[in-house]
Formats: sequence, C-alpha cells, structure tokens
Amino acid sequence: MSALIVVVANQKGGSGKTTVSMQLAGTIAQRGLRVLVADTDPQATATRWAASAPDDAPFPAAVIGLSAAEGKVHRELRRHVDNYDLIVVDCPPAVDSTIPQSALVVGDLALVPVIPSPADLWATVGIRRVIDNIRAGANETLNSRLLLNQCDPHRTLAREAVEILPEFGIELASSRLGHREVYRQSVALGATVHVLGSRAAQAIAEVEALADEVLEILGVSMTAARGGTANG
Ligand SMILES: Nc1ncnc2c1ncn2[C@@H]1O[C@H](COP(=O)(O)OP(=O)(O)OP(=O)(O)O)[C@@H](O)[C@H]1O
Ligand SMILES: [Mg+2]
Repeated sequence: MSALIVVVANQKGGSGKTTVSMQLAGTIAQRGLRVLVADTDPQATATRWAASAPDDAPFPAAVIGLSAAEGKVHRELRRHVDNYDLIVVDCPPAVDSTIPQSALVVGDLALVPVIPSPADLWATVGIRRVIDNIRAGANETLNSRLLLNQCDPHRTLAREAVEILPEFGIELASSRLGHREVYRQSVALGATVHVLGSRAAQAIAEVEALADEVLEILGVSMTAARGGTANG
C-alpha cells in the first residue's frame, strides 16, 4: 500500500495552506493512520508548528522539510510513500515556485484553501491553471477541491464571492473552516484544535468534517485503513 497524496496549494499568501495542512494531517493521524506533512515552504511554518509541541505531546503527524527539493519534490515524495498512509504537502505561496506543479504530478487531490473575498478568489486563478495543465498532461486522475477558509461563522457567503465561484472550474468542498481564534491558538501549542477542548468544539467539528470529506474523495475506508490497507 502506497500513501495517498493531498497537495494543499494556492499562490495567494495567507489563504490558509499551513492551517489546513496541519489540522487535516493531525486530525487524520489521530484516527490512527500514518500521516506525513511535507513542508515545502522555505518559511517552514509547518515545521515550526510541530516543533512548538511539548515533548510529552508531539504533533500527531510527522513533519519533514522538503523546500530545497524545488522542482524535484515529486521524487522526494515518492521516497516516503511506502512508510505512510497519507502525505499532506504544504506548498509555498510564491507564484513562480516550481513546487506546487511538481507535487501535483504525484498528487491524488489538490486542496485549494481560499478566503471568500473577491480579491482572494481572483488571486486563485493561477493555481487553477496549474491544476488544469497537470490534469491535461502529467496526472489525468488528479482530483481538486476549493476549500473556503476564514468564513464568517455568523454570515452566509458574501454575494460577490458566490457569484465568482462557478467561474473557477474547481469543485467546492462541502466542508469549510470558520474564522476562529482557536485556529491561531493551536499553532503556538504545536497541536490541532482538539487540544483546546470544548471551547474549540465548532472548529473541531469543522476539521473532523474536512477529514471525513478528504478521506471520502480519496476512497479511504477507515475500517480497512486501521486494518493496514488505507485504500478501499
Ligand atoms: N480559519 C482561520 N481562523 C482564524 N485564523 C486563521 C484561520 N486560517 C488561518 N488563520 C491564520 O491566518 C494566518 C495565515 O494562515 P496560514 O499560515 O495557514 O496561511 P498560508 O496560506 O499557509 O500562508 P503562507 O502563504 O504565508 O504560507 C495565520 O496566522 C493563521 O493562524
Ligand atoms: Mg503557509
């Protein structure tokens, strides 16, 4: 059994790539799958996040730094597929980086976090083109989802954002993450939102729903996964 690969990418900075990568990877690891986060961003935010964990409560997923691999990151990812059930690739924001493209060549799912404002949505057009190109050539079976992040929990989506969404050509994930302080707080604790307990109940429900949706898209049955084969 070879690891499935989720590539979290958006050239737009601050859209939530590292938040989504770490909450998703940590949540699925806590369910008992072997999960690796490949930190491909020279900022090393995911690596620092995991390093903030106390010795007696390490971050639930393993995290390695692969930013120096640049356009060869797909080769480095292939080295790890036998040791994990799932690899989550946290991509850098740089528009000219060769990393997202390289990771998508071996990816099963491209997850594109986006803040639902018109400006942020328009800035996401670049990664959609990259996904389209990869799908037209190197990786025809690549799946993709747009994931709304930092949604106002008390309001429905801004009308402008809803109007722009259909133009994207990337299916919208049914799960979404609200704008919640606990997402920031869990970073300093080197953990997922689960560590914050009942006051993070809504965020926990959001990341659990995201994990369910991602595993379903990937075709992972948890019963089978716990038995040792993560696929089907
Ligand atoms: N749903 C949320 N609620 C509250 N804060 C959030 C949420 N998502 C992200 N943030 C905060 O917004 C900032 C940017 O998020 P994050 O680092 O995940 O984005 P990124 O896309 O990885 O950024 P970069 O492009 O720099 O790598 C961080 O401080 C993070 O804690
Ligand atoms: Mg980041």
